[in-house]
Amino acid sequence: MTHDPQRIAPPVGLLAELTHRCPLACPYCSNPLQLEQRADELDAAAWKRVFSEAAALGVLHAHLSGGEPASRSDLADIVAHCAKEGLYTNLITSGIGLTEDRVKALAGAGLDHVQLAIQDAEADSADRICGYQGAFARKIEAAAWIVAAGMPLTINAVIHRANVARAGKMVELAVALGARRVEIAHTQYYGWGMLNRAALMPGRGEAEAAIAEVEALRLKHAGVIVIDHVAPDYHARYPKACMGGWAKRSFNVTPSGKALPCHAAETIPGLEFWSVRDHSLAEIWTDSPAFNAFRGTGWMREPCRSCERKEIDYGGCRCQALALTGDAREADPACHLSPHHGAVAAVAMAAAGEGQDDLPAYVYRSAKLPEPAQ
Ligand code: SF4
Ligand code: FES
Repeated sequence: MTHDPQRIAPPVGLLAELTHRCPLACPYCSNPLQLEQRADELDAAAWKRVFSEAAALGVLHAHLSGGEPASRSDLADIVAHCAKEGLYTNLITSGIGLTEDRVKALAGAGLDHVQLAIQDAEADSADRICGYQGAFARKIEAAAWIVAAGMPLTINAVIHRANVARAGKMVELAVALGARRVEIAHTQYYGWGMLNRAALMPGRGEAEAAIAEVEALRLKHAGVIVIDHVAPDYHARYPKACMGGWAKRSFNVTPSGKALPCHAAETIPGLEFWSVRDHSLAEIWTDSPAFNAFRGTGWMREPCRSCERKEIDYGGCRCQALALTGDAREADPACHLSPHHGAVAAVAMAAAGEGQDDLPAYVYRSAKLPEPAQ
């Protein structure tokens, strides 16, 4: 499909996966099963060029993510460059790898905002989920350093079976930590999350109780903390506009420099991804085959093609459509108008193992590819 570059609006955000290295091993991680190696990572000079190109292209927000971006010793140098280019910088971190001095250095380099992930409101459970003893205590410390350095803090909490009963407690913890915002997001099943779906999926009743609890806290804490609430797809009526629409608002760049329309795009067979090593960001944004594959609405089939919501949710998530129907061109089956919607609800029930006590063990995220299921 061809697109007129004049008519393609510039992107707003760039999510830079600075590295796939991470001290934690969360089973819901959306990184691919085949993690990229340190030796293949873009160096600081290459990232600086990418961020300069991003600013010239109209990008406003630089999200520094991973893996764990603090695993890179040149993080503050990269932040300083982004700030010099006038980009709003947001660090997405587990907090592990930060020290008080590093937090001060990042603030001094111009870091605008920090999103700190927590796994639970209770230390034992939190440490078990991320597979790292003592992580919870270190995150609490990191939150205090971030607030003391004057940077606005958002707490990110991914909700799944092991912590769904404490969604409200995680909001209360975020308030206690001095966060201005908390994002409560029910797990999305990509990468390691898909591999661990049966161990992560909460029952419908548990998910609904958590949604009601968080919504009630939104009223209680109005004016104190902003609560962003990402409801679970598998129990939804309509899908979300994943990424705000494919190649519409933002893009991801992997540690080795591959530019992706979303973090799971590499799961879609047949897409051709361009690298920032070979192409400018401007070329990638307008001409990359992967970006044009699902841009706009021209690629849609029914029921999306004639649906009045097609420019609201853009047919939902291409990667989820692929994962659940085998075809990325289908409507996201989170949509109740999709012919596959009933099957998704059944998958959710089965994966949630309602009534079962024996849940599968986690396959923790690691550099080693998991063994194929027998
Ligand atoms: Fe969205 Fe397609 Fe469902 Fe319409 S049919 S609501 S465009 S996913
Ligand atoms: Fe790829 Fe949603 S994660 S389109």
